[in-house]
Amino acid sequence: MVSKLRALIAYLTYSGNTQEVATIIEDALNQEGFTTAVHRIGIDPPIRPSEYDILFIGTFTWDKGSTPEEVKDFILEVGYKPSNVAIFGTGDTQFGGDDLFCRAVDKLSHFYNSPWQGLKVEQSPRGLQESKVKDWVEGVLHHVKSHA
Ligand SMILES: Cc1cc2nc3c(=O)[nH]c(=O)nc-3n(C[C@H](O)[C@H](O)[C@H](O)COP(=O)(O)O)c2cc1C
Repeated sequence: MVSKLRALIAYLTYSGNTQEVATIIEDALNQEGFTTAVHRIGIDPPIRPSEYDILFIGTFTWDKGSTPEEVKDFILEVGYKPSNVAIFGTGDTQFGGDDLFCRAVDKLSHFYNSPWQGLKVEQSPRGLQESKVKDWVEGVLHHVKSHA
């Protein structure tokens, strides 16, 4: 029997937008036959990154383009830079326009040298942006499956 590919979705949310993106990603992964685990940053016990074929890390952006402290703590907890990290996040162009929009996504993608362009969602993904999330997941999975 071929074993299922395993994915982790770790995310931080305050007001729910990033969680909504995480849920859409989770549904898409499950539809593709992945075994999916969800980690709520700052709440759930530490993860073992080596158990997963792909790690999704989700964050909102804060305080003039900053990455939230909880996400920084999570990164320290992971302790090394896995090569299979895909970054997603939500933000709001009202806080500094395009320059600061979802800057934490850019910072984390750069930090992990992510092979995928980070996904940036304006506020809630429900509605028009839902297909953007699904398309992004599809692109990431195409790469993961071809390297599995
Ligand atoms: C005080 C404050 C500062 C923010 N700064 C930024 C920012 O610099 N860049 C950005 O894209 N969004 C910024 N945002 C918007 C949040 O990232 C956005 O609302 C996000 O979707 C919240 O995620 P959550 O619902 O998962 O908590 C800021 C929001 C607040 C309240």
